[in-house]
Amino acid sequence: MMQQTDNDDGPEYSKNPLIIIASNRGPFTFSAKADGSFAVKRGAGGLVTALGALAEHHEVLWVASALSRGDHEWAKQHQDRVQAVEGMYLRLIRSTRTCFQQHYNVIANPLFWFIQHQLWDTSRTPSITRKTWQAWHEGYVVTNKQFADAIAESIPQTDRPIIIFPQDYHLYLVPYFLRERLGERVQIQPFLHIPWPGPDAWRILPESMRVAILVSLLASDRVGFQTKKDAFNFVQTCRFYLPDAHSHGSRDTIYYRGREVKARAYPISIDVKKVEEIAEEPQTRLLVSQLLNAIGERSLILRVDRIEPSKNILRGLEAYRALLETYPEHRGKVQMLALLVPSRMGVDEYQDYLRDIMAEAGMINAQFSDEFWEPVRIIVGDNYHRAIAAMQLYDILLVNPIADGMNLVAKEGALVNHRNGVLLLSEHAGAFYELGEHALTVSPFDIHGTVEAIHQALTMPPNERQRRAEALRGLVRQSGVRRWFYAQVEDALRASTSQASKDSTSETPEASKSALSSTASGAPSDSTPTDSE
Ligand code: ADP
Ligand code: F6P
Repeated sequence: MMQQTDNDDGPEYSKNPLIIIASNRGPFTFSAKADGSFAVKRGAGGLVTALGALAEHHEVLWVASALSRGDHEWAKQHQDRVQAVEGMYLRLIRSTRTCFQQHYNVIANPLFWFIQHQLWDTSRTPSITRKTWQAWHEGYVVTNKQFADAIAESIPQTDRPIIIFPQDYHLYLVPYFLRERLGERVQIQPFLHIPWPGPDAWRILPESMRVAILVSLLASDRVGFQTKKDAFNFVQTCRFYLPDAHSHGSRDTIYYRGREVKARAYPISIDVKKVEEIAEEPQTRLLVSQLLNAIGERSLILRVDRIEPSKNILRGLEAYRALLETYPEHRGKVQMLALLVPSRMGVDEYQDYLRDIMAEAGMINAQFSDEFWEPVRIIVGDNYHRAIAAMQLYDILLVNPIADGMNLVAKEGALVNHRNGVLLLSEHAGAFYELGEHALTVSPFDIHGTVEAIHQALTMPPNERQRRAEALRGLVRQSGVRRWFYAQVEDALRASTSQASKDSTSETPEASKSALSSTASGAPSDSTPTDSE
């Protein structure tokens, strides 16, 4: 096992693998320019950064949905083929508006996300109607098959290890379709960014949908989760719902119809170096000084979230109101700032949630504000520099989700904060397993407990604040998003090496590093796998 820090460019693997990522949201967005060319914008997400570094030394193909109009035009102009973009290879999948709507706005986000974050009020919702079933068949299944087909068609003839990493709940059926097309010559290793709840939560899904998801994931070689708890829940869910699935006492392995599938935790992290750099940029410094002017001498209680029911923003506001009622000495001395970015507004629940947040914040301000003090300020918008600026200044960072795969805000905040701020962290955030010891624990449903935790943080002795903040910063610095990804590649490579040594099949000729460039240039690959493989 090679050693590396998160800031390394990337490890050298003994066997040069072809790495394929599949995700709904891709690494780049395109917009058409007047001269017919395209402007490329690189996404800011951690996965993009991790793969960007890896792509400097290894061949990386990313398959994603065309989301914007520009993405569609770009894919069309390139006849839906693999193209080289900023050191990676990219293929965008175009689907019809209806198919995308059904996949994203009927199945993936409203149904699976809500099940996995346990957000349903089951006496009323969800109702799985004819429309849902139609969206499953004509949106979700179709899109997943499109992804698998696009991946299979893009794979060149090579004897190098091929590792395919489908990301998240949008692509649950991809492993099944891939295995059908490619057989055992590839390592399939999905990673699930969101929580995997225990068997009970999955009873909401009709049996055939549930079984299709589990059987597909069990066509993988290993499934990556944020925490050991998620991995264990997956094992239990498979055992509970699939009669042929057994774990033989193991907490992290499922045996299903001759296949041994590992369930492993790879806790995701942030790009430490990049976040530290952004914190120092002039744009961020300017925002810091503007925020300092606005906060004055008050203690800052900060939250930074997508507008997302699972983030529990409403109960956070409720707790703040209760704090001002229970501990009047904090009135005028604290400032709550919520930086909220709109998300998934095509889903009704998200629109309703934003409306309720604004109403609750308005009620708090109406009840407590005076001519010098507005207790809550909500800023809606996507401004990462502002988020990083505010994180430097918090006295309390409130992270109280009902459920969260990891929660990167907790890690970003711990890294950049300058005030020895206190992290209030939900016991149901994945980050709790790494950071919980040095945070104040919040049970997301317990308003009273949250009030007490805020009060405790506001009155915490400076040396305790310092001790906790330093410990948190140290933990975040130790791990980063590159290591998160390299660990997955390492495991897949190890497995593919042992698989190769078991196989007595004859070797195909070694392909060059630029094997993908034949598809990139538009020439058809002569190695498109057939269904019989
Ligand atoms: P999720 O992936 O569920 O949205 P995370 O906390 O894991 O939650 O990651 C969210 C990312 O988006 C973080 O990098 C965070 O800094 C960023 N972000 C969240 N809210 C905002 C906001 N209002 N403005 C700018 N960036 C935001
Ligand atoms: O990080 C939260 C998350 O839901 C991921 O699990 C997921 O892949 C991504 O965000 C999708 O976000 P969006 O719906 O904005 O594409």
